[in-house]
Amino acid sequence: MKSVQINKYGASDVTNINDNVPIPKVSAGKVLVEVNAVGVNPVDWKIREGFFQQMVPLKFPATLGTDFSGIIKELGEGSADLNIGDEVYGQGSPLSGGSGTFAEFVLTNINGIAHKPKTLNHVEASGLPLVGVSAWQALVENIGLSKNQKILIHGGAGGIGSIAIQLAKHLGGYVATTVKPDDKEFVQQLGADDIVDYTTQSFDDTLEDYDAALDTVGGETYRKSFKVLKNNGTIVSMLEQPDSNLMKQYDVKAIFQFTETTTERLTKLAQWIDQNNIKVNVEKTFPLDETAKALDYQRDVNPRGKIVVTV
Ligand SMILES: NC(=O)c1ccc[n+]([C@@H]2O[C@H](COP(=O)([O-])OP(=O)(O)OC[C@H]3O[C@@H](n4cnc5c(N)ncnc54)[C@H](OP(=O)(O)O)[C@@H]3O)[C@@H](O)[C@H]2O)c1
Repeated sequence: MKSVQINKYGASDVTNINDNVPIPKVSAGKVLVEVNAVGVNPVDWKIREGFFQQMVPLKFPATLGTDFSGIIKELGEGSADLNIGDEVYGQGSPLSGGSGTFAEFVLTNINGIAHKPKTLNHVEASGLPLVGVSAWQALVENIGLSKNQKILIHGGAGGIGSIAIQLAKHLGGYVATTVKPDDKEFVQQLGADDIVDYTTQSFDDTLEDYDAALDTVGGETYRKSFKVLKNNGTIVSMLEQPDSNLMKQYDVKAIFQFTETTTERLTKLAQWIDQNNIKVNVEKTFPLDETAKALDYQRDVNPRGKIVVTV
């Protein structure tokens, strides 16, 4: 089968298209999926460039790719709710026991996939697993956002931000978000109530008394967010470990979230998507042969919503 592989960590020049990679063999707890589309995430270029090599070293040659949507071809033991031919979405990252999704087939853990949302096609569904589960885990599980609560969502036009705005509105929240000027109309359409242009305004000068913040940017953006929160407010960061000084100073609960893409979360996410006509914005698609370009685009351009590689 065709796969996008690396033999060492590095930039686009280490990314190879290999035509003769053996199709992985199914074993207990695993499922073989014929991949239709692969949503690109920042983690994909970070894995390629070796950001996680201390934590989980890759065995080379390694196939890249985390998210996918596709069709089940073979089932290992322990897959009671799944059948050959089912349309599924989820994650098959080489960092968590998958064989890598930028390929014609991926071997995934059964507990990292679910039936895909029926209202999304494979291209849209492939853009959802990591960002959708990140938004769900943050807003529903870590923050417990409820009706009329105010939340600040940073990077509202990005992968996580664009789903998180729609989820926060569904939960009845009031949403402020930070974006660059070009993205204002996009986040307004997603439902944002208060839009701050981070290139000309400092959000901490105008926003106050927020119940929660979701940080997808890190650094100064993370640190300034504490000032916007009420006492007892919560900040969830996708990038920063809790800062105990700021937590004490502002009496705020801070959480670093490590997103775990599980069957249970993917199933709840798919139900919410289908019942509420939720959209995944796919800005651009690339063919599998141009995966290296897609990873660079994700790293350098920051798409509005998602970019997807079609297989
Ligand atoms: N901890 C975990 O388990 C986990 C899971 C998933 C993702 N992550 C991380 O979370 C981050 C976000 O992921 P994502 O998929 O949403 O990435 P993304 O699609 O690149 O979105 C990030 C957004 O932030 C915007 N941005 C950049 N600088 C900003 C600023 N100063 N203020 C406001 N917005 C700004 C970017 O757009 P512009 O620059 O064009 O404005 C972009 O739209 C990534 O670093 C990713 O690696 C962590």
